[in-house]
Amino acid sequence: MIMKFQAKPTEVTKIEADVLAVFAMQGKTAEDVLLSDEAKKADAGLGGMLTDVLTAEHFEAKQGSTFVFHTHGKIPAQRVLVVGLGELKTLTMVNWQATLAGVGRRAKVGASKRVAITLPSEILNIFSTQVATQGLVEGITLGTYVFNRHKSEETRKKEKIIDEVYVLTQAGKLNAAATGILRGETVSEAVVFSRDLVNEPPSITTPTHLGEVAKGLAKGVVAITCVVFGKKEMETLGMGGILGIARGSDEEPKFIKLSYKGGGRKTIALVGKGVTFDTGGLSLKPSQGLEIMKLDMAGGAAILGIFKALPILKPKVNIIGLISACENMPSGKAIKPGDVVRAMNGKTIEILNTDAEGRVVLADALSYAVEKIKPDAIIDLATLTGACIVALGEEIAGLFANDAKLAAVLKDAATASGEHVWELPLAAEYKETFKSTVADIKNISGKKYGGAISGALFLQEFVPDTIPWAHLDIAGPAFAEKDAPLTPQGGTGFGVRMLLQFLQAFV
Ligand code: BES
Ligand code: MN
Ligand code: ZN
Repeated sequence: MIMKFQAKPTEVTKIEADVLAVFAMQGKTAEDVLLSDEAKKADAGLGGMLTDVLTAEHFEAKQGSTFVFHTHGKIPAQRVLVVGLGELKTLTMVNWQATLAGVGRRAKVGASKRVAITLPSEILNIFSTQVATQGLVEGITLGTYVFNRHKSEETRKKEKIIDEVYVLTQAGKLNAAATGILRGETVSEAVVFSRDLVNEPPSITTPTHLGEVAKGLAKGVVAITCVVFGKKEMETLGMGGILGIARGSDEEPKFIKLSYKGGGRKTIALVGKGVTFDTGGLSLKPSQGLEIMKLDMAGGAAILGIFKALPILKPKVNIIGLISACENMPSGKAIKPGDVVRAMNGKTIEILNTDAEGRVVLADALSYAVEKIKPDAIIDLATLTGACIVALGEEIAGLFANDAKLAAVLKDAATASGEHVWELPLAAEYKETFKSTVADIKNISGKKYGGAISGALFLQEFVPDTIPWAHLDIAGPAFAEKDAPLTPQGGTGFGVRMLLQFLQAFV
């Protein structure tokens, strides 16, 4: 059974649940615990015992701290979970969601099946009821995510699950909370969809499989259509980049095109890197950690997740999703360093390192977007460079854009949705380094440092300045190497939340 969210106008002292989560903020010092209004009501229902115990136990209201109190029948909720929110002035969507992720996990550990959560009135001065509720749903769903499809049924049965979550809301705000729940559920489902695809073993999520998944998203949905091009069609289109990279693999490459008609006059193209396994090709990667390279289709997986949510969120913009899907394998047929390929826009590329394959497969997808779609904006998502992880770490995506307004809107969408991006420059002074002696450009720069910028500059060669374009290098945040509050180890679905936010705001 999947977790069910429900808005309820019930008082904290009347709600029947296995656990009731109330919040506490931190005042000037860590010891200064300020109970939220709803926590105070629970405390009153418990005859002031909650404050007594919190004081005796030196509870600190740091963000994410928790304390469980058994009510012994004094109120219908069996337990009260006091949750620290930290200082209110530092509260953002990211840590609101992370705090709720903690509530979800704590409830799960305690085998609580029915979880009631207060929406503290202090929070409602920062976020609207709808936005706070959406964040709550996303925090709990994403924080308690598990990928156990391939575990035995015995193991799966042991996984504790939350059945119901009650969002305690003022009676006048039930509709806003219900909308927040629907949006939160829709967005979370999209993120989970994309996480599952990344976590699946790479021999399952082949280019053909991604094509089938895309077709499945269009099935029975009037607003969405899907076309999947195979090798033949890609040859006709002149997609020499992806065809060259795919040559070493037994799996046929696919170029996936999803279209969503949202009405409105604008069209956005979303372009995703869908390298379903990146061995590096003949420029082979070391075997240490190679299994993680199943993440290399995370950009494409994010687009598939986004399309899952579109029919419900119904943004009023037309959206084209383009995914270059292939494997990067070494073999007797594989592309060799020194080979030259011709991208769809006619530019020739000298392949000097077969491990810099992402930019080559994206060259064709970007060319397709520019020539065939002529969109009002292009946004690409790609696990493009290890250098971007060095620059920004594992939780922050690199953002590059040829248009300041698009960059600004994307940054706002990221902040509002709880994702983190940081803008890096498309530094013109580094452009020279792509000069090839035998082709128009080579696929690696002559520079030792600044690899994330080099990758972005290469992509820029395939987009004219007249089309606003942004590139998200998600190599870091696409995959969590270890558990983090909102992202258990594995695929994170990064990009889904910020882009859904962006698309809904786009007019
Ligand atoms: N898929 C990798 C980038 C990557 C690395 C993603 C680590 C996630 C985690 C990409 O295809 C790659 O191999 N990039 C090379 C580029 C280099 C050869 C110019 C890299 O980052 O080393
Ligand atoms: Mn590579
Ligand atoms: Zn790659």
